[in-house]
Amino acid sequence: MFAVRPFDGTPEELAEFVVSAWKSTYAGAMAVPHWSGDYFRWQLRLDEPDSTNRTLSVYDGERPAGTLLHFPMTFQIAGKLIEAAQASWLSVPVAYRGKGIAHLLNEESRTLLRDQGRQFKLGFGYFGSNASLGLRFWKKSEGKSVSFGKRVGFWARVLDPPRAAAWNVNRWEGRLTGISGPFLKLSKLRQTPGILIRPMQAEDLPRCLELAELATRHCDLRLIWDENRLARQLGLQGFSHALVAEEQGEVRGCIGYHVLPIHGKILENVGILDLVLISELSARARAELLNSSLARLRELACVVALKLRTGDYPAGTFLRWGWFCKPADSQVLITWTQQPEQLPPVHRLHVLWR
Ligand SMILES: CC(C)(COP(=O)(O)OP(=O)(O)OC[C@H]1O[C@@H](n2cnc3c(N)ncnc32)[C@H](O)[C@@H]1OP(=O)(O)O)[C@@H](O)C(=O)NCCC(=O)NCCS
Repeated sequence: MFAVRPFDGTPEELAEFVVSAWKSTYAGAMAVPHWSGDYFRWQLRLDEPDSTNRTLSVYDGERPAGTLLHFPMTFQIAGKLIEAAQASWLSVPVAYRGKGIAHLLNEESRTLLRDQGRQFKLGFGYFGSNASLGLRFWKKSEGKSVSFGKRVGFWARVLDPPRAAAWNVNRWEGRLTGISGPFLKLSKLRQTPGILIRPMQAEDLPRCLELAELATRHCDLRLIWDENRLARQLGLQGFSHALVAEEQGEVRGCIGYHVLPIHGKILENVGILDLVLISELSARARAELLNSSLARLRELACVVALKLRTGDYPAGTFLRWGWFCKPADSQVLITWTQQPEQLPPVHRLHVLWR
């Protein structure tokens, strides 16, 4: 008999549970992120009151048999504000598969979020490898509770060609990285008069909130930030990091990123650019802030930097030397908590990759 309740171990045990469910199925076939306890504390905001139910789990007696994690967020779709959540980390260990556990978790999470007044949870289904089981599971609910949205990929910038080539599970990408290594050096950082790049500080937060609004207002579906959530996302309480760019003495741009170890052929650090808030910067300052972020990720031993390719940045931002446009490999999934709604056409999105 299965019971549904919040995960009752530590965030480290939760991370171990999720990663081992994914690794046991996908190791060697596709890249597997190694989320950590600190990652979950940060992204799920586990120190907030009422956060325990963000780690919804199924138990077989005392043994965890599945998880589906989420964190509450505010969205805007076609001008309308919507309370919802971002969700991911649906994980059922091999021994428990095919017993309806993922289905049970999904239904319980729909009820939980509905009772909180949330309209949906947004996640991704990965179709970049035949080994992937997620999208096929979600297909069963397509039209019933799940809407399939835009297909998305990544912009990728190799930071350490030899290590990135040895890490990549995709044979062709690995070879290409190996061959093009000598041409992938990072640009030297310049000291341009009138432009200052520096780590973000607490006093920059109100301005960064304005920049988030300005930089993402063109998106048809987007996250709406408040000071608490943005402060956390930009690393003011640890785990992630952010750089800001001042032009003529005013903060006009901000890039937030975090380091995620991902197991390809081997385990390496990957830099994830979460927030690229650069619409108010000159072209030169945009380039400098982006290059400075890459240099920081390189210092943090990242072999590749990735940005979800959803158009929440000025057109042409990543059309620059060394960046690759990877083909779409994931599909945005919206699981409604009540009757499925018709999504308006969504061309540009501002969401986190999770
Ligand atoms: C995807 C996953 C969570 C499914 O868990 P599960 O507990 O075995 O799924 P369920 O038993 O609840 O399946 C519910 C229904 O979906 C179907 N289903 C589940 N996985 C499927 C798959 N890979 N392909 C086709 N159908 C699938 C089941 O047959 C069942 O159909 P039914 O209701 O007609 O009997 C599990 O395989 C897993 O943890 N995979 C590794 C991590 C992962 O990829 N997570 C998904 C991220 S989006």
